Amino acid sequence: MKILITGASSGIGEELARQYATKNNELILLARREDRLLKLKKELKSLVKSITILVVDVTEFENLQSQIRTIGSVDMVILNAGISIGHSLEITPFEDFKKLYDVNVLANHAILEILLPHFISQQNGKIVFISSLASLISMPSSMVYSSSKRAVNAYAEGIRYKYKNDGIKVINILPGFIKSELTDKNKFTMPMILSTKDGVKRIKNAIEKDKKFFAFPFRFYMLISFINLLPQFLRDKIVSFI
Ligand SMILES: NC(=O)c1ccc[n+]([C@@H]2O[C@H](COP(=O)([O-])OP(=O)(O)OC[C@H]3O[C@@H](n4cnc5c(N)ncnc54)[C@H](OP(=O)(O)O)[C@@H]3O)[C@@H](O)[C@H]2O)c1
Repeated sequence: MKILITGASSGIGEELARQYATKNNELILLARREDRLLKLKKELKSLVKSITILVVDVTEFENLQSQIRTIGSVDMVILNAGISIGHSLEITPFEDFKKLYDVNVLANHAILEILLPHFISQQNGKIVFISSLASLISMPSSMVYSSSKRAVNAYAEGIRYKYKNDGIKVINILPGFIKSELTDKNKFTMPMILSTKDGVKRIKNAIEKDKKFFAFPFRFYMLISFINLLPQFLRDKIVSFI
């Protein structure tokens, strides 16, 4: 299987590359930090059929699209590259807001604009989005991140309906907290945080089972779903308390 993983230089993406490193797989790993990608390539090259690195900033859309064109068709793309801008109650500077949307939302479409025609013509392909449980509840200190991931949910849902007769499988993954560079920056206690290995094992399992929507850990997902069922005034109280 030929697999493109974005954001493969650390955290979830790096571990996905490790867990997909088998003799049947051709990996294409994309991120900005070349040194990290080269190190990972060295580690995995004897385990895989082939491994290619793409050193690209996904917010440089023109370059991103021309790099994606060079790889031709793939069997699966895991749209994992993502950023948060920390937790703050200050007004978000416009440039930070834009950057976050460029990485978390727009880059996904820039990539898919190139890959979708291949998927449609081969009547086959898997698109995996890495959204977040944060998309289901918008905290005042992280509303930009939450809203970007909610946009990912809407996009993933729409694209699944749109191409359901074209052999394209769309999988939307909503993880809770998983240890990574992104969560290492958080200064609060993260409930039910999973190790990178365990978190990615669950993601890979959901991909293998073609789950259209997979939110985990289950108890955390249930808790957020329960809060979302409450009347607004109670939700407001809970969010203020948190
Ligand atoms: N960890 C969690 O608890 C958690 C929970 C829910 C969802 N997620 C989502 O999971 C995904 C992976 O996050 P992570 O936790 O593994 O964080 P991470 O360790 O910070 O990894 C983020 C990856 O995205 C890449 N990236 C960021 N900006 C980029 C850009 N402009 N161009 C190209 N690549 C870029 C980074 O590579 P370079 O810096 O080398 O470019 C890195 O490989 C994100 O979408 C995140 O929102 C994480």
